[in-house]
Amino acid sequence: MKHTAIVLAAGKGSRMHSDVPKQFLLLADRPVIYYALRAFEESFLDEVVLVTGEGQDAYCRKEIVEKYGFSKVKQIIPGGKERYDSVYCALRAVEDCDYIYIHDGARPFPDEDILIRARQCVEEYGACAAGMPTKDTIRIVDGQGVVKDTPERKYVWQMQTPQAFSYRLIRTAYDRLFEKGDFEGITDDAMVVEQMMSCPIRLFEGSYRNIKITTPEDIRLANAFL
Ligand code: C5P
Repeated sequence: MKHTAIVLAAGKGSRMHSDVPKQFLLLADRPVIYYALRAFEESFLDEVVLVTGEGQDAYCRKEIVEKYGFSKVKQIIPGGKERYDSVYCALRAVEDCDYIYIHDGARPFPDEDILIRARQCVEEYGACAAGMPTKDTIRIVDGQGVVKDTPERKYVWQMQTPQAFSYRLIRTAYDRLFEKGDFEGITDDAMVVEQMMSCPIRLFEGSYRNIKITTPEDIRLANAFL
C-alpha cells in the first residue's frame, strides 16, 4: 500500500499582514514549512508532494527540499487560487497511490503519534481528519452578532490536518466538486468528501500543539513550543 502526503504551501496568508507568506516565516531559523516536511520525512509515509505558490518552486527546491535533504519530496508543483484548487492540482499529480494525507504546510507540528493515528483511522474507515475537542464554548451568531445557537460543547471539535482518505474516494469527491463548480463554504477536504460522496468522516485525535500559523501571535506560540 502506498501512502502519499500532500503538503500545501501555496497560500498568501493575508491574516498574517506580512509580505512573506506564513509558511516561509522563520521559526528558530527555519521556515515554518520545514517542520511539517521533516515530520513526514521521518514517518512511514512513502512520498510527499509539495504544493507551492506561483514562482516559489525554485526557492522551495533549493532552499528547503535540497538544503535539508527531504528525499521523500518527489514533486513540487504550483498550486491554485484557493486551497481547494491547490488540493485538486496535487490530486491530479499523484494517481498511483492508495492513501492520501492532506496537510496544511502552515501547521508545523504534525507529530509521529498523529500520523500513526491517521494511518490506523484511514485504513479502517477510508475518510478521516485530525481534530481536537474545543476548549471554549462555541456560539453561532447572526450577521449582527446576536447569538442564535449554542452547540453542546462535548460535541464540538476544532478541525485540523492531516486529513486522510483512500485515493479513489478523495479523487472522485474532488472530480465531482469541480464538475459541479459550487465551492461555497469549502474550507477543508473532509467537507468535500461529506458533500460530494455523502460519506461519514471519522475524527481522530490531533493535538493542541498542532496549531495553524495564521496570525502574528501564532508565531510566538510556535516558538514557545519549539
Ligand atoms: O488560508 P488557510 O489558513 O486556510 O490555508 C491553509 C493551508 O492551505 C496553508 O498551508 C496554505 O499555504 C494552503 N493554501 C494553498 N493554496 C491556496 C490557499 C491556501 O496551498 N490557494
